[in-house]
Amino acid sequence: YKVPKAVNEAVKSYASGTQERKDLLDTYKKMYNEQVDIPFYIGGKEYRTGKTIDIHPPHDHKHTVGKYHTAEKEHLELAITEAIKARKKWAATSWEHRAAIFLKAAELLAGPFRNKMNAATMIAQSKNVMQAEIDAACELIDFFRFNVEFMTEIYNNQPQSSPGIWNRMEYRPLEGFVYAITPFNFTSIAGNLPAAPALMGNVVIWKPARSQVYSANVIMEIFKAAGLPDGVINMVTGNSSMITDVILNNAEFSGVHFTGSTPVFNSFWETIGKNMNNYKSYPRIVGETGGKDFIWAHPSANAQEIATAISRGAFEYQGQKCSAASRAYLPKSLWGAIKKAVLKDVNSFKMGSPEDTSNFINAVIDDRAFTKLSGYIDQAKKDADAEIIVGGGYDDSVGYFIEPTIIVTTNPQYKTMCTELFGPIITIFIYEDDQWEEILDVLDNTSEYALTGAIFSGDRYVIDIATDKLENAAGNFYINDKPTGAVVGQQPFGGARGSGTNDKAGSVWNLLRWVSNRTIKETF
Ligand code: ALA
Repeated sequence: YKVPKAVNEAVKSYASGTQERKDLLDTYKKMYNEQVDIPFYIGGKEYRTGKTIDIHPPHDHKHTVGKYHTAEKEHLELAITEAIKARKKWAATSWEHRAAIFLKAAELLAGPFRNKMNAATMIAQSKNVMQAEIDAACELIDFFRFNVEFMTEIYNNQPQSSPGIWNRMEYRPLEGFVYAITPFNFTSIAGNLPAAPALMGNVVIWKPARSQVYSANVIMEIFKAAGLPDGVINMVTGNSSMITDVILNNAEFSGVHFTGSTPVFNSFWETIGKNMNNYKSYPRIVGETGGKDFIWAHPSANAQEIATAISRGAFEYQGQKCSAASRAYLPKSLWGAIKKAVLKDVNSFKMGSPEDTSNFINAVIDDRAFTKLSGYIDQAKKDADAEIIVGGGYDDSVGYFIEPTIIVTTNPQYKTMCTELFGPIITIFIYEDDQWEEILDVLDNTSEYALTGAIFSGDRYVIDIATDKLENAAGNFYINDKPTGAVVGQQPFGGARGSGTNDKAGSVWNLLRWVSNRTIKETF
């Protein structure tokens, strides 16, 4: 099994004055002024129920860019029937043809669909050009390409045989269908969660997040253009709990590929547990959930590097990356220098619509996020143990804008040190230099999550101690770098504890969850 060597897609710069930038912004403007009518897709057919939800850009919530149709219970039943109908042929389709479809999807996204995909992500999810490019273009292309290579690594892994006996391992898809339920914050994750099981020969029912349906629809266009057969990936939209309820109660349900909140994922486990006797096989439960990602620095660290990690790691994409730094533990001796550098950086950030490419900060995803985040800011303004040193402003008159905000607290258990916020707010605790080791224990015991984390030090012994003490605190652990920006094929991504099942998106380990192996022994 050999395929083209996967390489990471180069990030385009969209530099000022280039044709590349002009073309992207032209696409953005054109799409912004159109009204798209998004169906849901079952068995390759488009369904429009007339029960629709309007789509508004978060940075301009009175503007409408289209609507999507929502499915009813009977459509879910139909989606399951159609997926199962497509299964036999798809599972029997040889690996080269499955691989070729996703390699073609990668090339379509790298070329003719790139601007549309980026523009859709900028419009509906309020990402700036660079954040859209590294996500909706590069990361999704990488998922498609690297998963094909990982698939062949799996298939090449065969047991020992001996003269007269041939042992083989067949990497069969799961019996039944897989449910992919995806988040708003990464278009790439939304594309990968249905694509990875499908590549391994499974049929999928995919429910994208409400605020990502607009770019999810472009992903469906790419799958179709790449030649993905009807019924392999069925995208349904509508009421989450109704959809999940129908799916998890079906005997053919064979696995869930999830990124979203911890409470929702926990509820899946409960429902699956209750239904255990109804399923044909034990379902695969794969999920990435919440996070309370950290930065910790030792007095031996470089202040400028830490400042950059805070301003980029906490505020890129308005802090709505699952990997975003949202709490920091910094030594008193470095705080003056870090503060100066970080304030300089954050004060230079412009906020507004992604259409103006000089805006580094765009809007948070919706009114719910806006209300929640502004509530935490208001509370911090009142609390004696918290001080806002930059930001703290918000305005939802045009879009859901929250200023990048840094709270400094004297209490390492302060509310925003412990709670997942999912927005442009980071809380910092300044510790006495000689407490650097005990503060690692505080950090480790402050949150139930373990997704990403970053430590900074120039002292190798300290790095060793911190890496050891924080062994369970982050599934993606960064030494002297920000905790965001994992690259497919380079830093497989996923967390443990309350952050998920740690099956590392875009890796051999993830793809292995979507196969049910058959061991064959043939004797001659
Ligand atoms: N690749 C994304 C990040 O690490 C998830 O920020």
